[in-house]
Amino acid sequence: MDKLIISGNSKISGSVNVHGSKNSALPIIVSSLLSEKSLYLSNVPNVVDVLNLIKLLKNYGVKIAHNKNKLQINPEKINNLSADYDVVRKMRASILILGPLLSRFGEARISLPGGCAIGTRPIDIHLSGLSKLGANFEIQNGFVVGSVKSKLVGNKIKLPFPSVGATENILMASVLAKGETKIINAAREPEIEDLSNCLIKMGAKIEGQGSNTIYVQGVTTLKKAQHQIISDRIVAGTFIIAALILNSNLEIKKFNTLYLKSLINILKKMGANLKINENSIKVLKGPKLKSTSVSTSPYPGFPTDLQAQLMSLMCLSNGKSKIKETIFENRFMHVPELNRLGANITVEKDTATILGNQKFKGAQVMASDLRASISLVLAAMNANGQTTLNRVYHLDRGYENIEKTLSSLGVKIKRKKN
Ligand code: EPZ
Repeated sequence: MDKLIISGNSKISGSVNVHGSKNSALPIIVSSLLSEKSLYLSNVPNVVDVLNLIKLLKNYGVKIAHNKNKLQINPEKINNLSADYDVVRKMRASILILGPLLSRFGEARISLPGGCAIGTRPIDIHLSGLSKLGANFEIQNGFVVGSVKSKLVGNKIKLPFPSVGATENILMASVLAKGETKIINAAREPEIEDLSNCLIKMGAKIEGQGSNTIYVQGVTTLKKAQHQIISDRIVAGTFIIAALILNSNLEIKKFNTLYLKSLINILKKMGANLKINENSIKVLKGPKLKSTSVSTSPYPGFPTDLQAQLMSLMCLSNGKSKIKETIFENRFMHVPELNRLGANITVEKDTATILGNQKFKGAQVMASDLRASISLVLAAMNANGQTTLNRVYHLDRGYENIEKTLSSLGVKIKRKKN
């Protein structure tokens, strides 16, 4: 397994272009299964989750031409409707395949995704929503087997929680269902808007995307379409926090800054010196930041996917900070590793208390999940001494060429292939 060797006391400068959003690309690539016509995508991030999804769709018989950040998907011929455990466990977003296959073919068989480091990750909201559209499910030997008597039929579906994946699954399923679907308490993330905008280009009839109520009028056929994936707001937020951790001037470009309003408000409250434009942010050197308290929450609240990164920054701020994690039940796996790097963080149920004014010291640390691992890289860049980060594959799932990008900004970092 690859390792990253990171020298501390880094200073970064210059600018970084934010790559396409993993959490937008995954559902949009899956949505191609709804149609017999080609889908052309640009600004697709070259991250492992996307590469795994491409492999999965090719198993279904989908023809995909992949050239750098562009995909040409031809889903005309699908010759398999099942996804096995070894693929699904590596990439939980595979569960999104249920909606399109049930909507287009009336059947689908997918391995139960199982849990991951950050939680049990149940799919009950997905299955109950799809059942309201007329799908029947059985669990057979660890597989979810979905079937539809004739065709899915639009319905009113109220989600008990604004689940991102469940909203995406139900939204895609409703596109070819008969009649109108109303999704109440829908997730409002920008990735839902991006998926909806791509589906509309394919011929779907959708309104209300980005609000908590989405309306879909079922259609019978879809057409050829092309779409540019939005930039990754979590990657953008990660680089903003990196510049603050290293107290360096850095410009983060090519992303819609509106999508990071919650993070920007928190960082300004901490005293960060930020110049905000529509599609870029300049982080400027400034005085030591102040502590604060934050709760993660569904969009437009503070994103759980930036919780670990903000925690690294809070270790260096003045005073005591707190983070309450309300989305996942086990998303503090980075805490023991940050403490190995010299942090002083304690966890009580869903709340972490972070003592500030720490100085990281290099050590051997272990990545556990995608966002935890990047929080360790951020701390390691600030640390005195060298850090070795093990299990780098977690990082590669969501950050494109992370060590090349950081090196280009001035960080001494190299990958040791094992
Ligand atoms: C998406 O996961 C993202 N993944 C996650 O990003 C992100 O953290 C999460 O949304 C929240 O914003 C992708 O988009 C591929 P949820 P998802 O359904 O859809 C519970 C990353 O680092 N729940 O909104 O799985 C669930 O257990 C990843 O890029 C149910 O109980 O998130 C969790 O506690 C990590 N039943 C909460 O809802 C269900 O049927 C939020 O989950 C579904 C979810």
